[in-house]
Amino acid sequence: MNRIFSGVQPTGNLHLGNYLGAIRNWVALQHDYDCIFCIVDLHAVTVPQDPVQLRAQTREVTAAYIAAGIDPERCVIFNQSTVPGHAELAWLLGCQTPLGWLNRMTQFKEKAGKQREEAGLGLYSYPVLMAADILLYKATHVPVGEDQKQHLELSRDIAGAFNRRFGVEFFPLPEPMIFGTATRVMSLRDGTKKMSKSDQSDYSRINMTDDADAIALKIRKAKTDPNPLPETAKDAEARPEADNLLGIYAALSDLTRDQVIEQWAGKSFSTFKSDLADLSSSVLGKIGGEMRRLLAEPGYIDDILRRGAERANAVAKPHLQEVFDIMGLLRP
Ligand code: AMP
Ligand code: TRP
Repeated sequence: MNRIFSGVQPTGNLHLGNYLGAIRNWVALQHDYDCIFCIVDLHAVTVPQDPVQLRAQTREVTAAYIAAGIDPERCVIFNQSTVPGHAELAWLLGCQTPLGWLNRMTQFKEKAGKQREEAGLGLYSYPVLMAADILLYKATHVPVGEDQKQHLELSRDIAGAFNRRFGVEFFPLPEPMIFGTATRVMSLRDGTKKMSKSDQSDYSRINMTDDADAIALKIRKAKTDPNPLPETAKDAEARPEADNLLGIYAALSDLTRDQVIEQWAGKSFSTFKSDLADLSSSVLGKIGGEMRRLLAEPGYIDDILRRGAERANAVAKPHLQEVFDIMGLLRP
């Protein structure tokens, strides 16, 4: 069976972009693939984290996966640092990765900003660790949001470089799966910026744990232009804030963007927004409630992670052993 690997960082607030761009899609895939879903804590520490928060957020992301409908029996759910193979393979793959490839990564440029010289080595080599995550399990498919496309292309390049260098067909080239009607959810305050965990403005994002009042307020305050809703897809494309809300509406209601545009063409934003708020609260309200219930039982969450780590290690170890053999690293 084809294997899926994907992950979310345990940093900051999980938001609607994480849900619609990633987690919601995973729920549908778990029946057709052998799935491994990771909480990527080693990626989180590429920028400074508060240890107490990091632990809490690791449990929170785990709770979100389960609350969203990922079955921990069917899928492997674990946190990255419990499987040592991720860091080990990242080193070995880093030795196959030219600096020129890493220099092209736009996320590093964005995250490092003007302080390039101050940025950590881990932030720079982050995409190699991501390649290791995927390749450690020989995953064939990787469902993510649009922003991860470049990192996935690099993972394919690294897999290819390894295979060529050692004359093997060991790693499959992982296929990105970027689908749904909200592959790139934008900030509610600025249609040119993606919705992100690190945005300073609380009004920029809807968190997975927001209650109905918070959701309604944020959607009411969401930036729009003064015109009524777009009449055509082309019209929507030229209006990023409107287009973003239409995409969210479509994803939450399992409609196509065109169907939503047709349904709301020329109507006023105020009724659209109140409908969108109801729709968001009905989907997220259930998930948020379930997350809170799960988080009240940290022992249960930790049991799932512990069991997930055992299952992940059982797949990872023999693969890593083969990589050692291929590279000539003696295991006496
Ligand atoms: P991160 O928040 O960077 O850990 O991302 C976890 C997953 O959510 C990845 O698959 C991302 O591509 C996806 N994701 C993050 N932000 C967005 C967004 N604004 N729109 C769509 N997908 C997103
Ligand atoms: N880099 C991804 C993000 O920030 C998270 C991630 C780490 C990931 N390793 C992965 C996603 C492997 C898919 C597969 O969103």
